[in-house]
Amino acid sequence: MNQRSYDIAVAAAPDYVAHEGIKKWVAEIVRLAEPDRVVWCDGAQEEYDRLCTEMVQAGMLIRLNPDKRPNSFLARSDPSDVARVEDRTFICSEKESDAGPTNHWEDPAIMRETLRHLFQGCMHGRTMYVVPFSMGPLGSPIARIGIEITDSPYVVVNMRIMTRMGRQVFDVLGARGDFVPCVHSVGVPLGRHEPDSPWPCNPDARYIVHFPETREIWSYGSGYGGNALLGKKCLALRIASKMARDEGWLAEHMLILGAESPEGEKSYVAAAFPSACGKTNFAMLIPPKSMCGWKITMVGDDIAWIKPGKNGKFCAINPEAGIFGVAPGTSEKSNCNAMATLRENAIFTNVALTDDGDVWWEGVTDDAPAHLIDWQGKDWTPEIARETGRKAAHPNARFTAPARQCPSIDPEWENPEGVPISAFVFGGRRATTVPLVYQAFNWSNGVYLAATLGSETTAAAFGVQGVVRRDPFAMLPFCGYHMADYFRHWLQMRHAVDHLPKFFCVNWFRKNEQGEFMWPGFGENMRVLKWVLDRIKGKVGAKETFLGWLPFYDDMDWTGSDIGKEAFEALIRLDRSDWQTEFEAHKEWFGKLGERVPKRLLLKRELYRYTVEED
Ligand code: OXD
Ligand code: MN
Repeated sequence: MNQRSYDIAVAAAPDYVAHEGIKKWVAEIVRLAEPDRVVWCDGAQEEYDRLCTEMVQAGMLIRLNPDKRPNSFLARSDPSDVARVEDRTFICSEKESDAGPTNHWEDPAIMRETLRHLFQGCMHGRTMYVVPFSMGPLGSPIARIGIEITDSPYVVVNMRIMTRMGRQVFDVLGARGDFVPCVHSVGVPLGRHEPDSPWPCNPDARYIVHFPETREIWSYGSGYGGNALLGKKCLALRIASKMARDEGWLAEHMLILGAESPEGEKSYVAAAFPSACGKTNFAMLIPPKSMCGWKITMVGDDIAWIKPGKNGKFCAINPEAGIFGVAPGTSEKSNCNAMATLRENAIFTNVALTDDGDVWWEGVTDDAPAHLIDWQGKDWTPEIARETGRKAAHPNARFTAPARQCPSIDPEWENPEGVPISAFVFGGRRATTVPLVYQAFNWSNGVYLAATLGSETTAAAFGVQGVVRRDPFAMLPFCGYHMADYFRHWLQMRHAVDHLPKFFCVNWFRKNEQGEFMWPGFGENMRVLKWVLDRIKGKVGAKETFLGWLPFYDDMDWTGSDIGKEAFEALIRLDRSDWQTEFEAHKEWFGKLGERVPKRLLLKRELYRYTVEED
């Protein structure tokens, strides 16, 4: 061992770290990556402020006008590093067949060798930060601990918002507690007097790697979002999904919301939507004026960890502490709760800067300011935008803000036992075929509907628009093992509790023949949510169809809405030939997943395919 590097690591370990395993692991990474310094982060406000100030001085962050946006900053990423990189994301299980056909796989031994080469000396000239974090309230029986080693101070400050980060984590861990080791580097070693770039990253070598059996995460070359904030998609979904299967619980790409009726009855719902389907808006739903007796609260906007509770129900926690929301399209009109959440203590990435030191993005106001600095640091005016089509903010520009700043945060959001879930809602972006809402007949039909969930791609995320991509349970990019085994696990979980949640499917994105959205969306989704809750409580009937239960017009609350019966019928219409095509597409999808698909789902498909004609 290089004695000097070992000494740096061990000498820097604060007294409160009693865990020899962690010290040893940190020393190993020091020896490999050879940073100039090691900082063990304590999570204190002073540390956050100091790191932000240092980044401002180094040109990596811009401090926003404190009168407009107190204690907030803007970062501009490298244009090559603006989103999660699914094609560079690997699940390195021992056997290729355990990763399944929807994940990229590499032999763990080969990948370890690749990583060893990449990480060798990759932190030269940089500070290595040791970031202890808890996914879930500290000490909750559902929570898990991770330690992220990173050479990016931007990652450190974002992790402090997105997780419970800091020295208290070591108290929970004690001398021998379990933790998920997460190693991250931007992949740009610095020469002695070489200046750093405002957003160091390595476009030529990007690897987001998971070893599900040993529960490790390694990430190289990107500083952006889920590629670098390793608690989120990497730990809380890909690694946690594997833990959940092994241990009998569920780690899901779901928001969690609370709904309190005017009579004071409270229920919780978990909902899965693929990326770019308005999850944060649904999590922070503001009911229309005519339904203002309803109170909707948010427990989480992206991830749910769900375990069988002592009460015989599935109980869910939000493992995150912050919101990593898409900025474009967020406005007072679309989501005033999100706007309040990001009013202060926020980090913005790739939005535009106004002349008075505030932030702006497409959709936040009806009219754009006369002049901005765009996400790439260039002058931007509405005229330039008209001539060149250049956006002021990147379509995947983000804000990171503490969840507790959300005005609609649920009083139970940090309850270590979680909140009881009454319904699972699944939704995708479908211009045709899928009705506004329906209820699955039972748990296994619900698993079928979620396993075959599809969503149309958006140009912003995929470059092509309108192609249906199967995104089962909205987990396609986030499941850490074979998708068909994941379906089997879900089928199995119906035995885990006495009171099973009901399954619903929603589609806010149906279009008419003119190509216009038929459903107004946003707050109006409350009408659908109310029907869901009424169904759970057995307050309303429903129409039986081959697909499931559909609402009757009169059972939904239309006060203050101009959706008439005809428009409603169009929204929930089931077109036989569309569904024949859909069930054929499901056959193709199951075929792609191969022989591990549970027989129960294959038989269900055949039954659906048959009944769609007979019904
Ligand atoms: C996200 C995503 O950023 O799902 O939450 O892509
Ligand atoms: Mn997400």
